[in-house]
Amino acid sequence: MSIPKRPKLVVGNWKMNGLRGDLSELTAIGEIASASARVEVAFAMPAPLIHQAARAVPGLQIGAQDIHPEPGGAFTGGVSAAMVRDAGGCFTLVGHSERRLGCGETDAMVQAKAVAARRGGLNAILCVGEDATARDLGQAESVVGSQLEASLPSASDAARLSIAYEPIWAIGSGDTPSLAEIARIHATIRQACVRRLGETGRTVRLLYGGSATAANASQILALADVDGVLVGGASLRAATFAPIVRAAIAWATD
Ligand code: PGA
Repeated sequence: MSIPKRPKLVVGNWKMNGLRGDLSELTAIGEIASASARVEVAFAMPAPLIHQAARAVPGLQIGAQDIHPEPGGAFTGGVSAAMVRDAGGCFTLVGHSERRLGCGETDAMVQAKAVAARRGGLNAILCVGEDATARDLGQAESVVGSQLEASLPSASDAARLSIAYEPIWAIGSGDTPSLAEIARIHATIRQACVRRLGETGRTVRLLYGGSATAANASQILALADVDGVLVGGASLRAATFAPIVRAAIAWATD
């Protein structure tokens, strides 16, 4: 049975950067994205910018960088899936390593957030990735495997789920794994998805993240089981993000 080509998904993650005046950076990207039906372009925005970004820029998917696992209540500072949706967002990242490490988020919390996203009507991009020590010990696959085992939601909650493989040592460092390493880990993630989610696991989009730039995006996007990229630093300016979006469009129209 042939499996339809999954459309590429290019996601920018602004992290804790950007004010309303910076939203003009999204305009050119929206224009490029609107011209291709085969590539989806999304931005995980700081929460206060979600509403304006979603209203102002057609052609882009706008989402959050995190949500609270509960639907509402006495959780000072929390942002629920329903709030993100109400602001015009359609997805959220969950389990980014900066939250796992900086905010002590466990796999169980990440799983609860993925479930909350689904129930609140948001797509989720679940992030996994090993640190430098695990990599040096040759344990990247086992670390990623156990993160997935403990944080993937059940099949019924996995619809509209993507997974981002982001080695922690590659984020913001300018280093990336070799293409062979990325391909190997993505194949492992795909197997884990199919094992845990059944046939649905083949439709989950797998993104690579960690120092993805215009210089390496074409080669990374051409790998089997790489369905897109999650881009931090290079997503902040149209000048550095547009070539990555164009690389995805070129691949999709090949
Ligand atoms: P980077 O960040 O592209 O700046 O390495 C990626 C991420 O953390 O999502």
